[in-house]
Amino acid sequence: MKAMQVGLLGIGTVGGGTWRVLQRNAEEITRRAGRPIRITRVADRDVERARALTAGAAEVTDDAFAVVRAPDIDIVVELIGGYTLARELVLAAIEAGKHVVTANKALLAVHGNEIFARAQERGVMVAFEAAVAGGIPIIKALREGLTANRIEWVAGIINGTTNYILTQMRERGVTFAQALTEAQQLGYAEADPTFDVEGIDAAHKATLMASIAFGVPIQFERAYVEGITRIEPRDVAYAEELGYRLKLLGIAKRREGGFELRVHPTLVPADHLLANVNGAMNAVLVKGDAVGQTMFYGKGAGAEPTASAVIADLVDVTRLHTADPEHRVPHLAFQPDQVREVAA
Ligand code: HSE
Repeated sequence: MKAMQVGLLGIGTVGGGTWRVLQRNAEEITRRAGRPIRITRVADRDVERARALTAGAAEVTDDAFAVVRAPDIDIVVELIGGYTLARELVLAAIEAGKHVVTANKALLAVHGNEIFARAQERGVMVAFEAAVAGGIPIIKALREGLTANRIEWVAGIINGTTNYILTQMRERGVTFAQALTEAQQLGYAEADPTFDVEGIDAAHKATLMASIAFGVPIQFERAYVEGITRIEPRDVAYAEELGYRLKLLGIAKRREGGFELRVHPTLVPADHLLANVNGAMNAVLVKGDAVGQTMFYGKGAGAEPTASAVIADLVDVTRLHTADPEHRVPHLAFQPDQVREVAA
C-alpha cells in the first residue's frame, strides 16, 4: 500500500522524537492509519545532525521550501517554530496542496485566522494537536469528544516550563533562575524562554483552546497576559503557609456577550486537582454543560510526548483527508488477521 509521504521541517527535540516514535511504533501506526506513514524528506539548518539521525532513510536538505514544494510530499510537518519563516513555509505548503501538521502555537495564535482560511480555500487540513499541552490530546477532546457540549470554561496549567519552575521553587527552594536553567536543559523551554516565563506561550495555547471551545476567531491580541517573573521564593512560601499553591493558569471563560481570555499566576487551594500538577506536567480542566467537569493530565512538553501528538495528527490526516476513500478507515479498524486473543 502506498505510504503517506511526509516532509519534516526541523529535526530538533520534537522532530527527533517524531522520527523515533514513527520508526518504533511503525506497525501500530500503519494499522491505525490504514497505510504506512513515512518521513521521506527532512529539512534542517544542521544538515549533519539530520543526516546522522535519519541514517540514509530520508533525503536531507537545508532548503525547507524545496521540501514543501516537492511533488511527492503529501503532508508537511512544521517544527521549526517562530512566526516569519514558519508562516511562509506553511502558506507555501497549503498553496502547494499539502496538508500541514504543526506544533507551532505562536504561529497559529498570531497568524492562525489567515492560515486556516487559506487551508479551507485550498481544501487541505492544518492540524495542531501538538501545539497545545504537548502529549495531552486536548484539541481532539474539545473538538471531538466534547463536541456535544456548550463549553462554559477551560482552565489549565498549559506551560510545562513555568510549572516546573514554580514546583522546584516550592519543593527544593531553588531560585527562579536556577529552575529555569534546569527546564531549558530538560528541553521544556521555548527557544526564547521569555515566551514561557512571561505567560505568552500559555496565552498562545489558551487562545487556540478558546477558539475551538467557543467557535470564535483566534484573538490572541486581546488576551490578558501576566507571567511568573515577579514571583519570589517568599510568595511561594506564603501561598503554601496559607494553604494554597501558586500556579500559572490559562483561562478561557464564557461570559455574557463574549468571553474572557487570560493567563496569570493564581492561588489554587492546595487540595485542588490543579494544585497537585507538578513539575513539567500539564493539566486542563474543561466544564461542559452536559458532561460537567473533565480533566486532562499529562506531559505538556518534551520530545516524545509532543511527538505523540504530532503523529496523532499525521494518522488523522491520513485516515480522514487522503484523497483515496478506501484509506479512510475508522479509528478502531482492524484487519481480521490481526485480531489477537485477550490475554487471560
Ligand atoms: N515551552 C513549552 C512548555 C513547550 O514549557 O510548555 C510545550 O509547548
